[in-house]
Amino acid sequence: MKALDAPCPEWLWKRLQQHGDRVPFSTFMDWALHDPVHGAYGSGQLRVGQSGDFVTSPSLGEDFSALLADQLIDWLELLAACHPESMLSIVDVGAGEGDLIAQLIPLLEASAAEWLPRLECVLVDINPGMQLRQKQRLHSLGSIPCRWSSLQELGRDPVKGIMIAHELLDALPVERLILKGGSLRRQMVALHTSEASEPLLRWDDDPLPSPLHAQIKEQTDRGIVELPPMGAEEGWATEWHHSVAPWMKEASAAITDGMLLVVDYALESRRYYAPRRSDGTLLAYRRQTASSDVLRDAGSQDITAHLCLELLIEAASEAGWMFGGQCRQGEALLALGLAERLTALQQLPADQLAEALNRREALLRLVDPSCLGELRWFAFHRSGTSGAEQSGFDTRFLREPT
Ligand SMILES: C[S@@+](CC[C@H](N)C(=O)[O-])C[C@H]1O[C@@H](n2cnc3c(N)ncnc32)[C@H](O)[C@@H]1O
Repeated sequence: MKALDAPCPEWLWKRLQQHGDRVPFSTFMDWALHDPVHGAYGSGQLRVGQSGDFVTSPSLGEDFSALLADQLIDWLELLAACHPESMLSIVDVGAGEGDLIAQLIPLLEASAAEWLPRLECVLVDINPGMQLRQKQRLHSLGSIPCRWSSLQELGRDPVKGIMIAHELLDALPVERLILKGGSLRRQMVALHTSEASEPLLRWDDDPLPSPLHAQIKEQTDRGIVELPPMGAEEGWATEWHHSVAPWMKEASAAITDGMLLVVDYALESRRYYAPRRSDGTLLAYRRQTASSDVLRDAGSQDITAHLCLELLIEAASEAGWMFGGQCRQGEALLALGLAERLTALQQLPADQLAEALNRREALLRLVDPSCLGELRWFAFHRSGTSGAEQSGFDTRFLREPT
């Protein structure tokens, strides 16, 4: 159980004192990640990449983006045909180091597609520290224009195109729930003082506030989740993604016609809310090490929670997105040609042996079922005008590998 006290940094101690010495875990997670001065992403101190705090697929090299580019080009062709006059956008929400867009720009340019002159990239990131690094990374790169925006701004002036949320939704703050005396309660983070007068963080809990209780009850009544699950024992704990549904609505308002690709860690509800998963999915990452000690080093480590697959699809559909299908990253990348890439590496000349071995290792990490291969790819689309909704469309990464 995540029950240990953790040292409380001074900034958080002062913040908690202003909030009556205790806040819901979701507020703690929001501050620890996104506070513009002290938050791990907000301050820009967290680094994505092999020499940083954790890796994501684009940070392992260009092969991931090259495989994804074929899918994006398919979708852009379709959108360009439906909207021959319109500007098209690739919107990367939660762009991290900007790796994905930096790698995609030359790949898309190389396609020499007819629609390139009307393509732009839009980066969305709520954290100024990350935006700064993205701007440095993408400064004067290629001929496809890049701009930065927020989902709210895009909602006022929506675009046609493809939105990508790659390892974004698992960084949205979650509520943490605990089963006590037969009822679910909301976990809080409270300030305590040690015998040596040091400020400490400690788990605490409150009854569920009415809106949260109503949300959980609604999904339970509809049979989408069973929460708490039959057989869960006293102290069973889990997470609830209250921020995903509002995010899906904002995302949907930002795109009039187009696709949404969500790539993230997700579990089916029966696996997420299983009695034996008694401590949820919360994890912290720092310097390539995962820890369940999520209260420690607030503002210096990443905190993530897996998504519930059915609740994600439900939130998207409530927000007007049509669900196209989902699969594991391993299956998606095989459908996009990963095996052919591995074979092609064997043909590289001997003087490129080191590069071939590095790329081979990265490709294998992308599909390793104990790591990035466990990521799920979700395809959604919405269509105000294009008719793709009626006719349906082919999503290459969902095809059976040949
Ligand atoms: C785990 S990193 C993923 C980075 C990148 N997509 C990748 O896969 O390499 C999460 C990113 O999402 C950003 N972020 C977190 N919450 C966000 C939100 N609500 N809206 C936009 N960006 C957000 C963070 O600042 C960070 O850049």
